[in-house]
Amino acid sequence: MIAELRKQLETEAAEEEDNVQASIKLSLLFPKIFQKTKQEEEKTAMYGKVVLSFIFVLLLVFSYSIFIGTLDIRSYFFPRLKLPAAAPAPCAPEPPLRVFMYDLPRRFNVGMIDRRSASETPVTVEDWPAWPVNWGLKKQHSVEYWMMGSLLNAGEGREAVRVSDPELAQAFFVPFFSSLSFNTHGHTMKDPATQIDRQLQVDLMELLKKSKYWQRSGGRDHVFPMTHPNAFRFLRGQLNESIQVVVDFGRYPRGMSNLNKDVVSPYVHVVDSFTDDEPQDPYESRSTLLFFRGRTYRKDEGIVRVKLAKILAGYDDVHYERSVATEENIKASSKGMRSSKFCLHPAGDTPSSCRLFDAIVSHCVPVIVSDQIELPFEDDIDYSQFSVFFSFKEALQPGYMIDQLRKFPKEKWTEMWRQLKSISHHYEFEYPPKREDAVDMLWRQAKHKLPGVKLSVHRNRRLKIPDWWQRR
Ligand SMILES: *[C@@H]1O[C@H](CO)[C@@H](O)[C@H](O)[C@H]1NC(C)=O
Repeated sequence: MIAELRKQLETEAAEEEDNVQASIKLSLLFPKIFQKTKQEEEKTAMYGKVVLSFIFVLLLVFSYSIFIGTLDIRSYFFPRLKLPAAAPAPCAPEPPLRVFMYDLPRRFNVGMIDRRSASETPVTVEDWPAWPVNWGLKKQHSVEYWMMGSLLNAGEGREAVRVSDPELAQAFFVPFFSSLSFNTHGHTMKDPATQIDRQLQVDLMELLKKSKYWQRSGGRDHVFPMTHPNAFRFLRGQLNESIQVVVDFGRYPRGMSNLNKDVVSPYVHVVDSFTDDEPQDPYESRSTLLFFRGRTYRKDEGIVRVKLAKILAGYDDVHYERSVATEENIKASSKGMRSSKFCLHPAGDTPSSCRLFDAIVSHCVPVIVSDQIELPFEDDIDYSQFSVFFSFKEALQPGYMIDQLRKFPKEKWTEMWRQLKSISHHYEFEYPPKREDAVDMLWRQAKHKLPGVKLSVHRNRRLKIPDWWQRR
């Protein structure tokens, strides 16, 4: 027993000795290694310097020879390519976005406009119906109609072209008129009237989920115009990942709709554009200082309008008109906006409203009162060059806003008016489409979202657990 114990102790001691010896050996070895690396380091540094100076001299000779013209870098790198001597245009147009448009039966789109035709074959450029002239306010939300038209009839130099092979597409357009579907079928928001609106959404999702291209990206590269706040209201949650074309983010949770992936569109303006606005003195020709027309009671942020009505009462040069939008009132508004220097744009039901775009095409400098507005095309357009902004707090301070507007320098106003005239074509929805019109700008914005889409698609293919960033 004792012998056994001693033996065990001895082996333990021996082991310990081994360890000590090992660490002594290591400490002896270590300085050697250290010295060796230090020497080597010096050597490498020396070689490095030599190589660097050699490269430097080479570069110098190289660039000098380009400079004096003995070496033609173009023919050196592209021996078979004859490049023109002149430099390329500084701003060569980018290639257009290649968009595949799903062929949907007409009940999803133009069937709601031209109801006499029972045909279900997808609409073509030959039988594309005109937007009905007597539809008044429905036009505000007709972005979907103009986007579809732009793909059917995309000409040279536009931001997007339609491709017939989905394999070549960078983005997918779903031509469902979800806003018009709500306005046509779902307006009362009561069953059974709204059933058709719901059924269209159900049928559409069924169709998309069978598509290889939807599955491949989870719908991330699919573009859906949905400008009415109630558009696609039954199944909107299934489009959380897709590129939505919206007019603002007022009503949706951030996980469903946000500036990272979605595109902000202008409303389609309802007043006629001011095409011959060429007065001698535009400032003096507009006699009203500030114009506003609209209903004074709105929900949520719109409460501010009631307060503004009180604050703006009693000024001679302020025109505050309470009216609902009828065909006749729209005409009156147009006249009012064309004879005013500034047009007030307070928050409506949602932070944006049609009024702002009516002001822009009337060349009336917008006065924007909203703390939460998102504006269309803002990565291309700087609104501060032709609009004036007030916070709610400033606007509700009695006398403050009118005082600021009266003091506003004439030259600065005139410059803003000129800017408005030069950008107002970006707010035109038209058929046939034109370069840099509203829809062209929307496609450009959609193009800007694509790098984010790609990132998101690639990451989601390899993630094993839900994304901790909560980004899409
Ligand atoms: C879409 O987003 C909303 C809000 O974040 C969420 O409540 C809903 O569950 C999401 N739907 C799907 C299908 O992921």
